[in-house]
Amino acid sequence: MSEWETVAVEKEDGIAWVYLNRPEKRNAMNPKLHYEMLEVLDRLEFDDTAGVIVLAGKGDAWCAGQDLKESFRDLWDEPAELKRSSWAAQEWRWRRLYTYPKPTIAMVHGYCFGGAFTQLIACDVALAAEEATFGLSEVNWGTFPAGLVSRVLTEALGYRDAMYYVLTGATFDGRRAAEMRLVTFAYPQAQLRERTEALARTLLEKNPHTLAACKDAVKNSARMDFALAEQYFAARSLALRAVDPDARRQGIEQFLSGEYKPGFEPYSRSDQDQ
Ligand code: ACO
Repeated sequence: MSEWETVAVEKEDGIAWVYLNRPEKRNAMNPKLHYEMLEVLDRLEFDDTAGVIVLAGKGDAWCAGQDLKESFRDLWDEPAELKRSSWAAQEWRWRRLYTYPKPTIAMVHGYCFGGAFTQLIACDVALAAEEATFGLSEVNWGTFPAGLVSRVLTEALGYRDAMYYVLTGATFDGRRAAEMRLVTFAYPQAQLRERTEALARTLLEKNPHTLAACKDAVKNSARMDFALAEQYFAARSLALRAVDPDARRQGIEQFLSGEYKPGFEPYSRSDQDQ
């Protein structure tokens, strides 16, 4: 798929590597990139050859945040386009990505600033290079992390760390990001791609309907009380069985016949070669 200018998609054995592709601008997000990312996510959602999405960046940066020129200054006198591109920005980075039915991995190898935190936190798993540089720089140019950043950051990091980095704009590396739980793991830069691919392959071995249910269960129940969560899980479980009636039966049968140990590996899916 090479039909986009600001995004490059490379598919490889079930993994869709989605690169923000404005390396000369450190992958700062202009309106075109927001519109193209909406198209890309639409396309990959219904593409059976894309089982896991990895969000990456071309060049030295993962993403330098919003394009301060094209997404903001150039649109100061164009309120309609500003509104439309702001909608697209929020739509793909949060509403679509956070609720995406397929597993998503953020692979952060370089700069991650400002608005880039939105898609970073929206991805299910985030892996970073220890050498990557993160920063909430908004305070340094006269504003605060808006969109949803301050909100979701505080949930990911906790109040003390979120407040410190929002107030100071201080940068931090991948190790610190992992320590604060902003990313899942940090690895030396040289290992990042290999580790990301290994994780993607692990996820590809699982039943995709089950993975979608896992995502819904964790994300949707976070703000429910216990009674509501129990009811939601019961209903989601029925929905899972409706879409894939054989999944649990196959797994349980294979365990009881001694074929595998579900504590360590996924069951063999009969639908996998179809
Ligand atoms: N918006 C617009 N253009 C940008 C952005 C950005 N966020 N980040 C980088 N660029 C452009 C630069 O203007 C420059 O363009 P030019 O070659 O036409 O002059 C090009 O990308 C390369 O940038 P340099 O600054 O020369 O690259 P360097 O590697 O030295 O520094 C860094 C990279 C640290 C990312 C620096 O560009 C920077 O501080 N960018 C702003 C980061 C930021 O604060 N982002 C948050 C934006 S606010 C938000 O997202 C809500």
